[in-house]
Amino acid sequence: MKISTRAGRIEPFYVMEVAKAASQLAREVAHSSRPMIFLNIGEPDFTAPEAVQEAAHKAIRDGATQYTQATGLEPLRERISQWYADRFGAQVPARRIVITAGASAALQLACLALIDAGDEVLMPDPSYPCNRHFVSAAEGQAVLLPTTAKDRFQLSAEQVQAAWNPRTRGVLLASPSNPTGTSIHPDELRRIHQVVQSNGGVTLVDEIYLGLSYDDTFGHTGLAIDDQVISINSFSKYFNMTGWRLGWLVVPDALVPVVERLAQNLFICASTVAQHAALACFEPESLALYEQRRAEFKARRDYFSPALEQLGLSVPVQADGAFYAWADCREWCARLGVKDSWDLAFTLMKESHLAVTPGRDFGTAQTADFLRFSTASSMAHLQEAVARLKALAG
Ligand SMILES: Cc1ncc(COP(=O)(O)O)c(C=O)c1O
Repeated sequence: MKISTRAGRIEPFYVMEVAKAASQLAREVAHSSRPMIFLNIGEPDFTAPEAVQEAAHKAIRDGATQYTQATGLEPLRERISQWYADRFGAQVPARRIVITAGASAALQLACLALIDAGDEVLMPDPSYPCNRHFVSAAEGQAVLLPTTAKDRFQLSAEQVQAAWNPRTRGVLLASPSNPTGTSIHPDELRRIHQVVQSNGGVTLVDEIYLGLSYDDTFGHTGLAIDDQVISINSFSKYFNMTGWRLGWLVVPDALVPVVERLAQNLFICASTVAQHAALACFEPESLALYEQRRAEFKARRDYFSPALEQLGLSVPVQADGAFYAWADCREWCARLGVKDSWDLAFTLMKESHLAVTPGRDFGTAQTADFLRFSTASSMAHLQEAVARLKALAG
């Protein structure tokens, strides 16, 4: 069967090969003294609070399951607007918030609304692989710009200006980032946005990990900079609702009807049950639980990154958010006689029953030298992982 050139441009998700092999081996070693520990997972190990679960049950029982308007339930847009004010001190009117089926749908809508065939979008290398594929799906071209630890693995305004050309449509950043857990300093984001605006482009910031921020210097939304900044967010990470498929997009006023038209046609609406359930995320007891969990994620980071460092897996920039440690594994590759992070991931899987993510999918610049460890796993698992790494290191 002939497939579209558009589909052909989407690269395979290589880490799925690692994940598949890890799941297979996990079944074999499940009853051994060392069952597989999964540090490759990019989703919280917590689930939605009881109040959220109960709200979902209630919506189903009450038959509140018809389509909503394409932009989402009004009260949910209002509560998100209030959350921006309470948590981030940012004024984000509900009318600019569009509820979507996860950040993934928000990214698709943003890309389809803004990108024409052949348009280029600048992104940091490393970055979340799907983001460049959303650009390709809109027939644009992601241009990955290598980043350094000095810039927290984020783009600088100078880099954006130097890379800008007549085909450039804008930037797509993620702050905090997957795979590094590091954010752009708000001042740098402001400068980048100025460069983008002066070139007539658009600034898109994927803020899906913004709620899971551990450092006041960085935990700011780009929406506070200017109402032309477009922000993508989700109930998946901070709100622990990955499989519920719910997120949102904040756009400038002029773009609301455009995104609404696209959303009506492509999705009709996000899951109604999930939307009703998400209203309960903003109840005081749910927010208190989310904050406890945020503290737990921070405690894991505080334990795990220094432990990796001590083992010779250097973490050049401490994550200020999310639940990842981006570790330089060159020393380990040399010590164990393996070629790169891809091979090292398989060695750790086979020898120590530890599933981790090699850098390969996240870009090309230095990704053969880096592993992504996820700390979305219990402290006990993280301690056991460190013990196994120690044993392997000898
Ligand atoms: C940076 C980033 N953006 C977007 C997504 C997609 O998230 P969602 O579950 O909201 O579609 C992820 C998921 O891991 C992510 O890490």
